[in-house]
Amino acid sequence: MDAARISHKGLSTLEQEVMLDQLPVRGTLPAWLTGTLVRNGPAQFEVGSQAYTHWFDGLGMLHKFTFRDGKVSYANKFLKSKAYQKARETGRISYTEFATDPCRTLFERVFTLFTPKFSDNAVVNITRIADRFVALTEVPIALEFDVETLETIGVFDYEDTIGGHTTTAHPHYDPVWRSAINFVTQFSPDRRYNVYRIPNGSAQRRLIASIPVSEPAYMHSFAITERYIILTECPFVADVDVRNVILGKPFISNLKWKPERGTRFTVIRKEDGAVRTFETEAFATFHHVNAFEHDGEIVIDLAAYPDASVYTYDFYLEQLRSTTQTIALPHLRRYRLCLHDGRVAAEALAAEPLELPCIDYGRYNGQPYQLVYGVNLHRARPQSFYNQLVKVAVQTGDTLRWYEEDCFPGEPVFVRAPTAAAEDDGVILSVVLDGKTNTSFLLVLDAATFTELARAEITHHIPFGFHGQFFGDMV
Ligand SMILES: [Fe+2]
Repeated sequence: MDAARISHKGLSTLEQEVMLDQLPVRGTLPAWLTGTLVRNGPAQFEVGSQAYTHWFDGLGMLHKFTFRDGKVSYANKFLKSKAYQKARETGRISYTEFATDPCRTLFERVFTLFTPKFSDNAVVNITRIADRFVALTEVPIALEFDVETLETIGVFDYEDTIGGHTTTAHPHYDPVWRSAINFVTQFSPDRRYNVYRIPNGSAQRRLIASIPVSEPAYMHSFAITERYIILTECPFVADVDVRNVILGKPFISNLKWKPERGTRFTVIRKEDGAVRTFETEAFATFHHVNAFEHDGEIVIDLAAYPDASVYTYDFYLEQLRSTTQTIALPHLRRYRLCLHDGRVAAEALAAEPLELPCIDYGRYNGQPYQLVYGVNLHRARPQSFYNQLVKVAVQTGDTLRWYEEDCFPGEPVFVRAPTAAAEDDGVILSVVLDGKTNTSFLLVLDAATFTELARAEITHHIPFGFHGQFFGDMV
């Protein structure tokens, strides 16, 4: 069997919605592991005779694994977004303005913001706002759902008037402010990054800074430290005249790779919203790993790609389904922004490439740390999709790997043991597609040794998703 082809199942539609009270478990789950992992990602890649063309575009589905008393339950359900409902009603990709061109990319979704209908297919991540569970995407529409039933409740209404058209599905949490932090990019009436926080229990966003920007950059994530918020503006920017967008010009054609601009770190001081900019050479990124302050510097670790092909080419389904191409991988890179003289220094962190990075977020985000977990490709057996989990010590480069033939792991999620002392005292959870059976299982690794503790098997495949969260207080 052609190994590269096996991962196709992970990019194929899953129709079943199930609730399974107890999954068969091989191995032994830690007795302390209690809580729920909630994930989302695309699960329907065609509507009628039309097909989505980008990994980010399939209709979203929620999945949850609940751990209690050494047992695991599983449930999944489509997000009942307007995009989903309209697709079901009409048998066509949801929005008429794209009916003749079903190529709805992440960036084209931005375009729809300027029309009366815009996509609420919140496929990227999960979080809680005001103690309510919501699914997130890169337009500022959060879809609330019932975490018990996975039924979609509806669009989450913010109790404020902060404007914006795009956002990130990677909000941060600031333990001192006891607030989530995120930003929205506003394209009209003028162009701004509106950076805000939402205190625990509140649905009201509070503006931290509103930063004018002539050419807003596409940003998938950002970073925070104890005192700062850092927006990493790679030079994939919108120099769009908003009127052109309203006239129907596809938004993606207005996002341009301008490497001559370099990459800009816009640093916002939390205390007063003061802004300072640092510049370095051009690179592209989706995910920050972490950031912290050290000795007069802001240290930012991220997963860097060399150019914009990761935005414009690599994650199209045609490429991901290719039997001849391997998935693009970024490298870990550290940037040091000197607060005294404004200089930026860059260094490679480890030889091991790594995407979908995960740290012990609750304990180390914004702080010095040592360990990151992620996915990449087996060096001797690369395939068209991530086929290996890795644990990397960022400073030494020491690496542990989990690999099983024809298995395709998703984003690792670290869950700290309740009595943890060491940074890796806990488990890694990852949804893995077994290409040999075309079914998925939830893998539980000992985070310290990176060896398997248990796997909980389900009877269907789970399409390759993006992100999820573990909620330990939910059982
Ligand atoms: Fe992401």
